[in-house]
Amino acid sequence: MSKTIIISNRLPVKITKNNGKYSLQSSEGGLATGLGDAYKNGNMLWVGWPGIDIPPQDQPQIKERLAKMNLVPVFLTQEEINLFYEGFSNEVLWPVFHYLVTYARFEQVYWDSYVSVNEKFAEATQSIFTEGNKIWIQDYQLLCLPSMLRNRLTDTTIGFFQHIPFPSFEIFRLIPWRDKLIEGMLGADLIGFHTYDDVRHFLSTASRLTPVNFSSNIISLNNRQIIVEPFPMGIDFDKFEKLPLQRQVLAEIDNLQTEKQGRMILSIDRLDYSKGILERIRAFELLLQLHPKFIGEISLFMIVVPSRDTVAQYKELKEKIDQLVGNINAKYRTLDWVPISYFYRSFSIQSLSALYSAADICLVTPMRDGMNLVSKEYVASRRDETGVLILSEMAGASKELNDALIVNPNNIGDIMNAIVNALQMPVEEQKRRMQSMRALVKKFNVNRWVNNFLSRMDDAKLLEHSLRTK
Ligand code: G6P
Repeated sequence: MSKTIIISNRLPVKITKNNGKYSLQSSEGGLATGLGDAYKNGNMLWVGWPGIDIPPQDQPQIKERLAKMNLVPVFLTQEEINLFYEGFSNEVLWPVFHYLVTYARFEQVYWDSYVSVNEKFAEATQSIFTEGNKIWIQDYQLLCLPSMLRNRLTDTTIGFFQHIPFPSFEIFRLIPWRDKLIEGMLGADLIGFHTYDDVRHFLSTASRLTPVNFSSNIISLNNRQIIVEPFPMGIDFDKFEKLPLQRQVLAEIDNLQTEKQGRMILSIDRLDYSKGILERIRAFELLLQLHPKFIGEISLFMIVVPSRDTVAQYKELKEKIDQLVGNINAKYRTLDWVPISYFYRSFSIQSLSALYSAADICLVTPMRDGMNLVSKEYVASRRDETGVLILSEMAGASKELNDALIVNPNNIGDIMNAIVNALQMPVEEQKRRMQSMRALVKKFNVNRWVNNFLSRMDDAKLLEHSLRTK
């Protein structure tokens, strides 16, 4: 079987340093949690950044440690972290692709560093590449990499998958380096997004910015053909379904059920302004204000996982969340009830599983989200088929999970009404909705996603051969 080289900005594990000692932790975010499981089962190598600036003298030991896990580090300097990662990736592409353009800072130094770090990834990949390897590039931090690798390794199959939304042309065209980004992506043979809308936006953008033709979902460019398709990402359903049977998880569920004050709404996100965290808290506050009968009867269990907290907008968001939660708790708490249990840290997978199992409602209301795997993890964890998922129409997952209560995340009244509906929903209806969502999440799981993508890469290769021999 041919080996696949996965390349993403972040490896599925990140290195942390405490008292001069390095240790490994799982990375956060949909890409790492979703693909992290699939890669362990497969014949794969993974190239990426280990998450901190590691001085040159320590790099060999880190390299050796990671090699045992089939991971290949690309080391970034502090300057590259500032300009490429925090700068271009997270202060240009992230806000623009999530339609939050006012957050973007179009700095030339960010772009220069983005190009040179993409080259660094190309070099690292080329150095481990052997004949017959397939290359699968992940996400928006590496948009120039497909064509850089196409130039270096002419005869290989290159796939690219973007985990975040692809915006409409009217938004994308604002980026000063828009043509270069599209040209970079078009180095791939197969380009995948989570939803059909992303595909549509990409095709129309590519046709306006470059001299390509496309018929249906196939782009023709300089004697090459590029397939562009939706591949909605799944999760490891079996893992999430079985976790609540583990002894430790059972004990935690038990604990939560006894400690729980009334019914529980669960909210889990990375710290990010695209996740709609403030609006969600305001909707909960509105509920307490307009439906005081729920005071003491319902609480919001809110986990915010630290992320990108060196970027100014993320720091500000954290302060706003702290303040809002503080105000609501001070205003509404009683001697034996707290409205919002707020945690700013990550939780083990076992604790998350216990929370998913104990939560009556899961509230997932991003302003924009490529897919959103938390919604799928909640569904997979509901072994007894009860529970209600409230899901933003702006999350890719809403295209599949039609049986969730779908809301507009900007409409705080809409979210509040959905919470009221969820609280009043008869168990039979909860089960009917949950059963159909579980069947879907089970069928379209992460293995299927990986296999679909890799087999479409084979089709792309065949298409290319047929063109050459014409
Ligand atoms: C999202 C992105 C990933 C990213 C993750 C965590 O899921 O699609 O590419 O790795 O967020 O963000 P971070 O900046 O910490 O890598």
